Amino acid sequence: MSVNDTTEPTRRDFLYIATGMAGVVAVGGAVWPFIDQMRPDASTLALATVDVDVSAIEPGMSVTAKWRGKPIFIRNRTEEEVAEAQAVELSELKDPVARNDNLSDAEPATDLARSAGEGMENWIVMVGSCTHLGCVPLGQSGDFGGWFCPCHGSHYDTAGRIRTGPAPTNLPVPVFEFISETVIRIG
Ligand code: FES
Repeated sequence: MSVNDTTEPTRRDFLYIATGMAGVVAVGGAVWPFIDQMRPDASTLALATVDVDVSAIEPGMSVTAKWRGKPIFIRNRTEEEVAEAQAVELSELKDPVARNDNLSDAEPATDLARSAGEGMENWIVMVGSCTHLGCVPLGQSGDFGGWFCPCHGSHYDTAGRIRTGPAPTNLPVPVFEFISETVIRIG
């Protein structure tokens, strides 16, 4: 507007103001999709936790679930397998730390600390990714009857603890809990 104009906006001013507002709206419209892209989509949120029905897994059997893109080993150990793992001294272990996200970082790698806990010692839940270079170990195999990684020959025992081979640490135990007698929630 020129200095001689009255305070009433002319038609030209009105068009200018209207165009300016349209510009703001357009910017707003551009910002929203961008923020939207930064949110996890529904499928990612759905995978934040995974419930697994383990009622059909008999002692000696195992299944592999998928959680956040990783294989999760769930194994129902036999009494013999539990007894064998419980008999191992901590001094025999290559990695004496439990690596269990449900316990403190300093928890020693006893068989109990690697399992689902008191009364549920038969259940083992672990991320199925070799701690050497990430291959998926084979279950019920290897020198200790636990898992064997064929990529470079790492042997894990029935509690998923590294015993021989190049893998430096035990297979990690993710956050999980039994939400009923037969369903495990991972994550
Ligand atoms: Fe498993 Fe190398 S990746 S031993």
